Amino acid sequence: MPHRRFLYASLFAFAFAIAPTGTAAAQDTAGSGVAPGNAANTGERPLEFATAAPENAALAIVVGSAALPDGVPLSSAERAGIDAAIAAAGFEGKAGDTLSLRGIGSRPRLMLVGVGEEPTAVDFAKAGGKVAQETSGEKAPIAIAGLPDAQAVAEVALGHRLGGYRFDRYKTGAEEPLPVQAVTLVHADAAGARAAFEARQAGLAEGVRFARDLINEPANVVYPETFVERTRAAFRGVADVEIEVLEPAAMRELGMGALLGVGQGSPRTPRLMLVTYRGAEGPPLALAGKGITFDTGGISLKTSSGMDDMKADMSGAAVVVGTVLSLARTRAPVHVVAVAALAENMPGGNSQRPSDVVRTMAGKTIEVVNTDAEGRLVLADAVQYVAERREPFAIVDIATLTGAAVSALGPEYAALFARDDTIAERVEDVAERAGEPVWRLPLHPNYAKAVKSDIADVKNSGNSPAPGASAGAHFIEAFIAQDMPWAHIDMAPTMWADSAAPLTPKGPTGYGVRLLDQLAREWRPES
Ligand code: BES
Ligand code: ZN
Ligand code: MN
Repeated sequence: MPHRRFLYASLFAFAFAIAPTGTAAAQDTAGSGVAPGNAANTGERPLEFATAAPENAALAIVVGSAALPDGVPLSSAERAGIDAAIAAAGFEGKAGDTLSLRGIGSRPRLMLVGVGEEPTAVDFAKAGGKVAQETSGEKAPIAIAGLPDAQAVAEVALGHRLGGYRFDRYKTGAEEPLPVQAVTLVHADAAGARAAFEARQAGLAEGVRFARDLINEPANVVYPETFVERTRAAFRGVADVEIEVLEPAAMRELGMGALLGVGQGSPRTPRLMLVTYRGAEGPPLALAGKGITFDTGGISLKTSSGMDDMKADMSGAAVVVGTVLSLARTRAPVHVVAVAALAENMPGGNSQRPSDVVRTMAGKTIEVVNTDAEGRLVLADAVQYVAERREPFAIVDIATLTGAAVSALGPEYAALFARDDTIAERVEDVAERAGEPVWRLPLHPNYAKAVKSDIADVKNSGNSPAPGASAGAHFIEAFIAQDMPWAHIDMAPTMWADSAAPLTPKGPTGYGVRLLDQLAREWRPES
């Protein structure tokens, strides 16, 4: 026996001798020890507002039909040349139509961009995005003219910022950089147009682009701790904003077993972050986002094909924070709190297992039948915390929750779930106007039964016959009080653009910022 005691004692001492000192977290998470790059993205065209187009600029004209509008800076010879080209090309000026012309008059290029006869705000934004994408290689400065009012100009400017977004900070400069000459938005009321843009669309563009940057970053760069750092940096100096962060010790004290359980297989420990913007009195609107910085599936490991997409599994968290950035930057008269449920879902010796039972902050027990259904687990604790601590008048959660929603809807719609028809209609209406449409899918008592567990209160994956996206929604619903106005958006279908559209270049879309920004501006405690 003494012999054995000696052996234990020396092992103990040895373990201490090699234990990392001070920089434990950094050493645990650095992996190769090679720091990821921190270069900036390459420059983009700055936006300017003016009453006239610079003489040497390529000119894009926004049109609603085959007829050129009045008040665009064209000579009569240029008008005649363009009219002939319009007739020859059969160009009709419908939303999405473009016609690019060279060799007419003295401008390096003339471009027509259609918005149709009765353009919406989204049509104008898409025209701006089209111009950005089709002129990205143009060496001349760009001017955009033909817009009816200051509001339309502001929407085109938004579209240019969204459609012209790029993320190239990890390219080391082998390719020729894209031109960065200014784009000038031309309107008689240039000052009014600039003011309109600054009041709303500039913030929106910043919110969407912040979210896209975070989603684009690989998971060795953005993980829970650095997601928080990026957020703090983005909000530095923004008034009336408060950032609250819970670390694992605080979560343990609060009994957040579901959020902790998801994160326990990763050395990159979870965080719960609340970003509050108080631009009005009264209870806040709570926006809860799934923030899985990488989803391997955990012990229920995903197959390798497409697993790389799962760096985007924190899209919900990125877009709720991006929404608050937009609202705070523009001093919107609203009170809103974003909740980011941040964790990395990894397999490992300390990972949770299928069949584990965890207890949430609310005291409810969950049987973890599938460790790949982790988004609903982190959200269970997140919605409980925000409901208890902030007493919101409503909760909207947004999450890249299920492959089933992707199969059901394809990339044009996110899935919407709501218990209350009025709330569903409100979200559908706002989503349509914001240009980020949703399609409602069902909640049903029989699907709610599918997440009942034999051993715990609920389980995290549903039985037949519940469709996958509905089972996920019902699981989250189990953590929302019956009288709490609530909507759930499964944005798995819309998180990533496989090909470019006018407002979404190939890559992460930042879907949700425009929808939630509009929703927060319109949905008040009393309404
Ligand atoms: N993050 C995934 C869902 C996902 C899949 C988002 C594809 C975007 C694109 C989520 O965590 C997941 O793995 N869901 C499972 C749930 C199942 C195990 C109940 C799924 O959809 O298969
Ligand atoms: Zn996931
Ligand atoms: Mn998963």
